[in-house]
Amino acid sequence: MTLAGKSVVVTGAATGIGRGITESLLKSGASVTAVGRNPEPLGELAERYGDAVTVVSQDVGASGAAERIVTAATESFGALDAVVNNAGRARFGRLEETDPAEFDAMFAVNVAAPAQLIRHALPQLRARGGSVVNISSVGGALSMPGRSFYGATKAAVNSLTRSLARELAPDVRVNAILPGPVDTPMWNETGLGEQATQQMRLDLLASTPMGRFGEATEIGQWVCLLLDPQLSGWITGALIPVDGGRTA
Ligand SMILES: NC(=O)c1ccc[n+]([C@@H]2O[C@H](COP(=O)([O-])OP(=O)(O)OC[C@H]3O[C@@H](n4cnc5c(N)ncnc54)[C@H](OP(=O)(O)O)[C@@H]3O)[C@@H](O)[C@H]2O)c1
Repeated sequence: MTLAGKSVVVTGAATGIGRGITESLLKSGASVTAVGRNPEPLGELAERYGDAVTVVSQDVGASGAAERIVTAATESFGALDAVVNNAGRARFGRLEETDPAEFDAMFAVNVAAPAQLIRHALPQLRARGGSVVNISSVGGALSMPGRSFYGATKAAVNSLTRSLARELAPDVRVNAILPGPVDTPMWNETGLGEQATQQMRLDLLASTPMGRFGEATEIGQWVCLLLDPQLSGWITGALIPVDGGRTA
């Protein structure tokens, strides 16, 4: 698997699954435009990987974000071959207990921002036979009591992926990965509290046939595969569970 010479944007690149994706891409020879809000982990990424990484400290939901990200990638690496929409917001809770504003906040980051980024990257992607990978979730395919808003945004990502795959073919391929549980900082920010989070971890492990959490690089390797036209040039519109069997 080689992505030598490819320029790839990864949102949410500095932590968790995004970090695993970024490291897998760099190992495959790609250059990465790494996007996130917090400059600290982004700075550490840039320091460690040097010229192969350019960082953009940017809220993906902010007005003009997509244009700034695409410009940064093309100025840094001369082109843009692929977009990995990984940044995500996860706030869990039962319907009556959830602030309705939270649906808008999650939709903005999980659905609208990826769509905008794809839209602004399209001229570059079309010119280079490029590709998109959206990081969705098994939550977009399973019923999600207590996490219905989050699940609904990921179901929207799945729909966006399939529709755009047809709309943009044959120029640009669009696929999604649906990760099962991966131990990342996301689990500490869901708003559930420590005890409920611990219980959720145990429940998730119990409902994952492989009996363990996934590793971020196990998602990263699938991103590399989906961006490599030699291996996946005939795959578009696929929703691929990488989930330890959780949806089996
Ligand atoms: N962990 C799991 O079990 C799991 C399972 C299925 C799917 N997923 C999906 O995997 C993706 C990555 O999540 P993760 O688990 O790796 O959690 P994470 O470590 O919290 O990663 C989320 C990343 O997104 C970035 N981000 C969040 N909001 C942003 C915004 N408005 N603008 C720019 N960047 C933003 C964060 O960076 P800053 O805070 O610096 O902005 C962070 O790097 C998400 O889409 C999530 O829904 C995770």
